[in-house]
Amino acid sequence: MGELNGKLQDNLSGIHEIQSFGREEYETEKVDERNFEHIRAMLQALKISAIFHPSVEFISSLGTILVVGFGGYLAYRDGLRVEDIVAFLLYLSLFYGPVTGLANLLENMQQSMAGAERVLAVLDTPCEIQDKPSAVPLKEVRGDIAFDHVSFSYSSDIPVLRDVSFHCEPGRMLALVGPTGVGKTTLTQLISRFYEPTAGRILIDGHDISQVTLESLRQCISPVLQDTFLFNGTIAENIGYAVPEATMEEIREACPGSQYP
Ligand SMILES: Nc1ncnc2c1ncn2[C@@H]1O[C@H](COP(=O)(O)OP(=O)(O)OP(=O)(O)O)[C@@H](O)[C@H]1O
Ligand SMILES: [Mg+2]
Repeated sequence: MGELNGKLQDNLSGIHEIQSFGREEYETEKVDERNFEHIRAMLQALKISAIFHPSVEFISSLGTILVVGFGGYLAYRDGLRVEDIVAFLLYLSLFYGPVTGLANLLENMQQSMAGAERVLAVLDTPCEIQDKPSAVPLKEVRGDIAFDHVSFSYSSDIPVLRDVSFHCEPGRMLALVGPTGVGKTTLTQLISRFYEPTAGRILIDGHDISQVTLESLRQCISPVLQDTFLFNGTIAENIGYAVPEATMEEIREACPGSQYP
């Protein structure tokens, strides 16, 4: 179910790409495959459930028969009182309630675990980029950025940046110009350490950013993203997102700077 949902979500998000590349048939086949897997798993679960529930019913009925049969025999032979047999039958029905409940609970748990598996896999994924044990906080940044023979690739076979070196002095504006997909956004993301360079160093005010704490590094960078993302809430909340304690006055002051009227 999780796999089928994941595939459907992928396809709906990338529907433009699928249509542009004419891959509708291929994607339909993939969804069909997962759908059949889901149906197979559902049938299997129904089969187990069809065996399990009647078995529980059968065992509970067997209990009643045993009490009535054996109790009747004892009443006949040793003079067991009828009230005791009736009381026993009542106890037995009280006992079966929770047992059936437990069986249903087990089934619900199995169903929930199927969904939880995917969620837990995501939650348990360790973050690749961590602070080094010797990391120090980056303080009072002037904004001197230097790339020292930096190379980077998302996957080992396709290099994105190869031996990039440049220096940007504090207060200067630097434009990276190039065709789409050349690695401009990637380069800016390396400065915030969303990825580690495969070779070379990035320095801020002369400090190698791999040796400073992630929190202090990201606190001194204000990215303006290519794809604007607005959080649910007011415009003021979105402008003040990085500084939760910002007052309304400070948010207003920030507006002209961010070219918002
Ligand atoms: N998260 C990612 N995983 C794998 N490859 C990626 C990822 N992000 C980008 N790429 C690839 O890395 C290359 C550089 O992408 P990047 O987004 O940095 O380019 P860009 O210069 O910013 O392009 P644009 O001008 O379109 O914004 C592209 O080939 C892109 O497909
Ligand atoms: Mg880009």
